[in-house]
Amino acid sequence: MEHNIDDIRYCEQLLNSFHNIGATEHGGVTRLGYSRQEDEMHEMFAKLGRELGCDSCQDEVGNTYVMNTEGENYYLIGSHLDSVIEGGRYDGVAGVIAGLMILKWTREDQLDLPVRVGAFRCEESSNFGCCTIGSGLITKEAYKQNIGGLRAKDGALLEDIFEARGYQLNPRKISGVRKYLELHIEQGKVLEEAGDVIGVVTTIAGPRRFILRLRGFAEHSGATPMYMRNDALCTAAEVILAIERIGCKESLHQSVATVGVVHNYPNALNVIPGEVELGVDVRGIHPESLDRIEKNIREAVKRICKARKIEYLEEKISDIPPIAMSPNVSQGLEQVAKRLKIRRRFIVSGAGHDAMSFAGTCDTGMVFIPCARGISHNSVEYAKIQHICDGARVIYEYLKEEATRLK
Ligand code: HGY
Ligand code: MN
Ligand code: MN
Repeated sequence: MEHNIDDIRYCEQLLNSFHNIGATEHGGVTRLGYSRQEDEMHEMFAKLGRELGCDSCQDEVGNTYVMNTEGENYYLIGSHLDSVIEGGRYDGVAGVIAGLMILKWTREDQLDLPVRVGAFRCEESSNFGCCTIGSGLITKEAYKQNIGGLRAKDGALLEDIFEARGYQLNPRKISGVRKYLELHIEQGKVLEEAGDVIGVVTTIAGPRRFILRLRGFAEHSGATPMYMRNDALCTAAEVILAIERIGCKESLHQSVATVGVVHNYPNALNVIPGEVELGVDVRGIHPESLDRIEKNIREAVKRICKARKIEYLEEKISDIPPIAMSPNVSQGLEQVAKRLKIRRRFIVSGAGHDAMSFAGTCDTGMVFIPCARGISHNSVEYAKIQHICDGARVIYEYLKEEATRLK
């Protein structure tokens, strides 16, 4: 759809405001949850809000809000400003920018539409191994009970970080949210390959995550004969390929399984690896498929470790069920996209989002826009300004209709 040049330019200016924060020498960004870089992103977000003439505030866990209302009830548009390691500049940021666009339009249209835009802390699991911490804590949906005991990549305990910042690990639950809406890049290839611009999300795949610790025996790599070894890394190699096979078997149910983290100890050239820690990420929209994956992984690890005389420990660190978006919101968003003559489809989200945290609190909906070649969690991640404006406009028009209905 057509947008006026001011909107396109403003959207571009918003994106550029965040561009250099957390920039790495490899062209991507690293803005880990509860890091200085994420703080800088939130400070920039609040500054952009002030430039729009809006107030901003932070809640008890460091989430930042920019608002056009102090009112008790409001529509919440949100996403996140942290990133994965060496990530892209659109994951999460596009959703926060869309919210600022909507605030701009409510002011230009002098529309009495109570809106808050939220930037939620630590949505990515890259720093603490647990996702949606900021939104999960304030909706009481934090899926890991002992959140405080989580350790960051640099070894810092989350409870110490909270203590130092004066945050609360048990904050008041967020209130007054009429509906939660989030725009996000698809992080997949469906929209681009189909030539669609808007994806109305029906279900968000549930992430189940595990840490597997394989314990062999570190010995001299030169003096220990091949048949006398307990090599934890060779064992891990078999486990990783077994997990890939298990995931492929369940792919017809749209499930996936990935080993994304490998820590090898002592990781020395002349030492047989004594211990390996694997991080396993399983996603899917059908609980029974996720259950089969979990069961088959356990059986494979047991079989491989027994054959190689390797001890192992397994810790489940996340078990979020597949989460349905509110059908009335999804239908409404799709009807608006239809009225605006924007090519659209209903779509499932393989990636997790802050919207998972809100689905149990209020009516919740998500709008996807395409990203180039479906690439995300990569420095070459890219989305068109035009599409951010398209998605923001769909949410805005939906909220305008909502507000009219409520009058
Ligand atoms: O990992 C995810 O699903 C998302 O990027 N937080
Ligand atoms: Mn992400
Ligand atoms: Mn994201």
